[in-house]
Amino acid sequence: MVNYKDLGLVNTREMFAKAVDGGYAIPAFNFNNMEQLQAIIKACAETKSPVILQVSSGARKYANQTLLRYMAEGAVEYAKELGWEHPQICLHLDHGDTFELCKSCVDFGFSSVMIDGSSLPYEENIALTKRVVEYAHQFDVTVEAELGVLAGVEDDVVAEESHYTKPEEVIDFATRTGCDSLAISIGTSHGAYKFKPEQCERDPQTGKLVPPPLAFDVLAEVEKKLPGFPIVLHGSSSVPQEYVDIINSHGGNLPDAVGIPEEQLRQAAKSAVCKINIDSDSRLAFTAAVRKVLAEKPGEFDPRKYCGPARDEMVKLYKHKIIEVLGSDGKAE
Ligand code: G3H
Ligand code: 13P
Ligand code: ZN
Repeated sequence: MVNYKDLGLVNTREMFAKAVDGGYAIPAFNFNNMEQLQAIIKACAETKSPVILQVSSGARKYANQTLLRYMAEGAVEYAKELGWEHPQICLHLDHGDTFELCKSCVDFGFSSVMIDGSSLPYEENIALTKRVVEYAHQFDVTVEAELGVLAGVEDDVVAEESHYTKPEEVIDFATRTGCDSLAISIGTSHGAYKFKPEQCERDPQTGKLVPPPLAFDVLAEVEKKLPGFPIVLHGSSSVPQEYVDIINSHGGNLPDAVGIPEEQLRQAAKSAVCKINIDSDSRLAFTAAVRKVLAEKPGEFDPRKYCGPARDEMVKLYKHKIIEVLGSDGKAE
């Protein structure tokens, strides 16, 4: 059993309480490799932003869970080396799908876990979430749960709306499970294709897709039912068109990739939404930089020469999110 406190990590409780009060959101960035982690820590150290480092099941398979956990431990020391005296870094399991997986992360030094029972029937989601909460809370590990199903690009609009979180369920769910935060569905989704072209309008000037707005009415209803309770938004990448354009003009093929406009995320961050999940935008920044270097310098074969620029681009992206979208800069001095 490893206690996260001995690793210099923190859980989400205080982070979220301050974010809800202060009208900003904590960035939750996924990482799968050293360059992403370096970029996240550099961006957070330079802006003094609290951060949630997220590890998905896919990341565990790709990079090895032991290695990722030690990397997060190393990240605390790296942050201090960069001059961030009191780093506030949470290590979080993203989309845990079983009690056993959540338990193994708690036992291994994670400070927060998500149990995603959103695809289960309501009562089963409650039972599973409650079991994880009861275990995790013994070690002061915080638990994120999910209610409502995030839309997939295959769904039609009607199906998506029917998967929005039902505000009338949230009090019962939060009370009976004891979860510390709740991910809700208001129209965001994972990946770089969040809406089908026919769900969007086209900007006549640029030809770019303009997606439909998020369901802020559902968010407002949830807030009314659970005042001050930490709400989480998954699937919150904006899919910056400059990266999509660089990728597409350097041999890539991402037709009609579209994300959540930053203005809407800014609005969400000022509300009870206090954790905003971003993964795809980092992948796009990385890929755009790598494609550009390799296209411009076909003789290059030292990975540091293309992973280095990719890392620099991700630092820029993360700082932009922290300062211009989430407002978490200066909140972990
Ligand atoms: O929830 C989705 C995250 O972006 C993680 O993605 O499962 O491909 O690692 P992944
Ligand atoms: P994006 O795919 O929009 O970056 O969402 C990431 C996420 O929700 C991770 O849990
Ligand atoms: Zn997610």
